[in-house]
Amino acid sequence: MKKHNFNAGPSILADEVIEKAAKAVLDFNGSGLSVLSISHRTKDFDAVMEEADRLFRELLSIPDNYKIFYIGGGASTFFYEVAANFLGKKAGYVNTGVWSKKAIKEAKRYGEVEVLATSEDRNFTYIPKGFAIPEDLDYLHITSNNTIYGTEYHEDIDSPVPLIADMSSDILSRPVDVSKYAMIYGGAQKNLAPAGVAFAIIREDMLDRIVRDLPTMVSFRTHVENNSMFNTPPVFPIYVLKETLCWLKSIGGVEEIYRRNREKAALLYGE
Ligand SMILES: Cc1ncc(COP(=O)(O)O)c(C=O)c1O
Repeated sequence: MKKHNFNAGPSILADEVIEKAAKAVLDFNGSGLSVLSISHRTKDFDAVMEEADRLFRELLSIPDNYKIFYIGGGASTFFYEVAANFLGKKAGYVNTGVWSKKAIKEAKRYGEVEVLATSEDRNFTYIPKGFAIPEDLDYLHITSNNTIYGTEYHEDIDSPVPLIADMSSDILSRPVDVSKYAMIYGGAQKNLAPAGVAFAIIREDMLDRIVRDLPTMVSFRTHVENNSMFNTPPVFPIYVLKETLCWLKSIGGVEEIYRRNREKAALLYGE
């Protein structure tokens, strides 16, 4: 009998992906080496990175003026890195649960944080709407899916300031208009890969808005300019991420996974 995992942490990957990963652990691309034993600076791994980039772009219709990069350290690392890179004076945050709160806490280390809206008054059971977004903010940060409370933005909001979204638990689960965001980031362990890699999709002009001199590894410029290869990237999770993207494409892309997700949700919530 097939078992289910309803945990909010690392989630079930497609069987096909796990089978491919298992094979690659034994012999990667017929190279005679395990994917666990290869250098990230090889032609074989370059091909993995290129394909992941191509598929990510295709599946989410990511415009050409966006770059994708990967880091270790999880989405939690992006909580402080987003602020370190972009919070000069004041940023706006929407507080919709545990993960927003964590992002807010880290941002306060770098500047003023204005919580523009919160759903804490009703135990985070809704997504605040219709709040004003001041135009003098460095950026607006939202958590697109509140993993613990289960509330989600079902539409991409309009923002007069750069919109940054933590999409850890709903990336590639529904179509997204990437052009509305200055940056999308998340841990990959819910929808794309095993734990160990976090992704970012960033509009190129944001790199010119980095507000301070940062340690090399903290600056987003480092990872974009070095194609996620400034240091050793999490090779195996990136390999599995690429296989998940291939699988998503093979089943019909985001439209199809969105349809399946709505069907699954209806079954569960209906019950
Ligand atoms: C929405 C959201 N943001 C951030 C995180 C933290 O991610 P990580 O464990 O990769 O740091 C999680 C983890 O569950 C999450 O669900």
